[in-house]
Amino acid sequence: MTALLTAIAVPDSVCDAEFNALRNLLYRETGVSLSDAKRALVSSRLARRLRQLNLRTFGEYVGYLRDRDPSGAELQTLVNCLTTNKTDFLREPHHFGFLREVVVPDARRRAAQGEPRRLRIWSAACSQGDEPYSIAMALLESLPSAEAWDVKILASDVNTDVLATAQAGEYPPEKLAPLPDAWRNKYFIRRGGAPGHTYRVRPEVQSLIAFRRINLMEPWPHQATFDAIFCRNVLIYFDQTTQERLVQRLGGRLREHGLLMLGHSESSPWLAELFDPLGKTVYRRRPAKPGPSRLLTAAQERPRSSTAAAGASTHTPALPLNRIAGAPAIGPPRNILAGQTCVLAEPGEITTILGSCVAVCLYDPQSGVGGMNHFMLPAQPVDAGASARYGVHAMELLITGIMKRGGERGRLQAKAFGGANLLQLQLTHDSCQIGRQNVAFVKKFLADEQIPLVAEKLGGGQPLRIRFQPQTGRVLVKTLSRAADLVSRERIYRSKSAKAATAGGEFTLFTNPGLGNSCP
Ligand SMILES: C[S@@+](CC[C@H](N)C(=O)[O-])C[C@H]1O[C@@H](n2cnc3c(N)ncnc32)[C@H](O)[C@@H]1O
Repeated sequence: MTALLTAIAVPDSVCDAEFNALRNLLYRETGVSLSDAKRALVSSRLARRLRQLNLRTFGEYVGYLRDRDPSGAELQTLVNCLTTNKTDFLREPHHFGFLREVVVPDARRRAAQGEPRRLRIWSAACSQGDEPYSIAMALLESLPSAEAWDVKILASDVNTDVLATAQAGEYPPEKLAPLPDAWRNKYFIRRGGAPGHTYRVRPEVQSLIAFRRINLMEPWPHQATFDAIFCRNVLIYFDQTTQERLVQRLGGRLREHGLLMLGHSESSPWLAELFDPLGKTVYRRRPAKPGPSRLLTAAQERPRSSTAAAGASTHTPALPLNRIAGAPAIGPPRNILAGQTCVLAEPGEITTILGSCVAVCLYDPQSGVGGMNHFMLPAQPVDAGASARYGVHAMELLITGIMKRGGERGRLQAKAFGGANLLQLQLTHDSCQIGRQNVAFVKKFLADEQIPLVAEKLGGGQPLRIRFQPQTGRVLVKTLSRAADLVSRERIYRSKSAKAATAGGEFTLFTNPGLGNSCP
């Protein structure tokens, strides 16, 4: 046993280069900026993960993230390990007083003037759920006939582990200590006998909240405006430029007089240039004045410049909050292989790795429905007609899949990737043009169908990792130095597709052709 532990022992600290690589990845992904003092934290939080992956050094882990994580799942694990998630029920209780004394009375006043009885609150870094549940309970306490109101709380975080805890809504008794006993009895159900019992949030509280993975650094999958936004104890992890940009974007999502709540140490003099400070890290959006404003509306938002986005959409589709509330929670990224197609009508990410194959990302920016295919025209001896029919079939599967999920053909936009000349060294002379043939096919097909090709990375000589977020149309592209087995996998796939094409159009490689969807 000791021998085994020694064999997979992990060094107890990261060297400079490894630490820099890991903190750069975290920064690029989340905006979280780790100081040199966080080196021990990085070692201790990641050591277990290295053991699970049977890796001996942090350098090997960096290599794993770079070369062996096509779906981005390990990058999400890195984010989950390195973000700090401390939170409590009724943390900084004065903010809930502002809900009761400012936000709810404002909404009542508007309702008395004939506006809808509606309240929208965003808990933008909700961690394990203590914050959005505290907001929900505070609102239920302040609105005696809450059922007559349309109340929705969006609770989001970049860390999928804490979101799962939040969504489960079950806590040990000590977590509930900050809550009044009356709230515990009214809004939780006790489960199990002592010791080891827990408290579960009641469904009527939970039903007010939609939990979603939203990375504050990326385009947001909604265009809602809020009566209040809680963005507490997360700005401290960002650098000054990132903080200012985020606050400008958040301010643009507040209604006039809406409140922005920040954490206790997140107050800064420059905030007073954008908001009216109400004290205790509460800021009120000023009424709009004619002329330019420093707050950013959804239409003015741009992805962070340090993010490696190819053809990143500058347009976040309009999604009403109730659409988000009704959508299923975001699952892990869907990784597709050669011959597969995946369509999503809900927030999520589709990933793939390409060599000579091509992938077309198609999306309808208005409905947010979109999908990706991954294919290559078949190898010889298929005649040119059969080869093109194969490609057309791959494209039609994607288009029909999107239309079946609510997308409009006339609004579709395309981004296309791949078609590298990877197989050329392995194949005979007349097969050297594989990548080029596929690129030419995609371009011609899109032109014939009048689908605008708004971004592309086609050709070249290196594999690509593609991450596509259909709801925003955003695509992240990473050039890989190599991709294990890719060349042999593509060769096998290409000869199989030749047989399928010669067999007269039965493209069994695309599973579930009825739906045009083979999302894993
Ligand atoms: C210290 S917790 C704060 C929780 C809660 N707001 C509170 O004040 O109790 C910070 C949270 O911010 C989240 N976070 C960090 N970077 C983020 C990003 N780019 N987008 C969304 N959430 C992020 C972390 O995952 C973590 O759950």
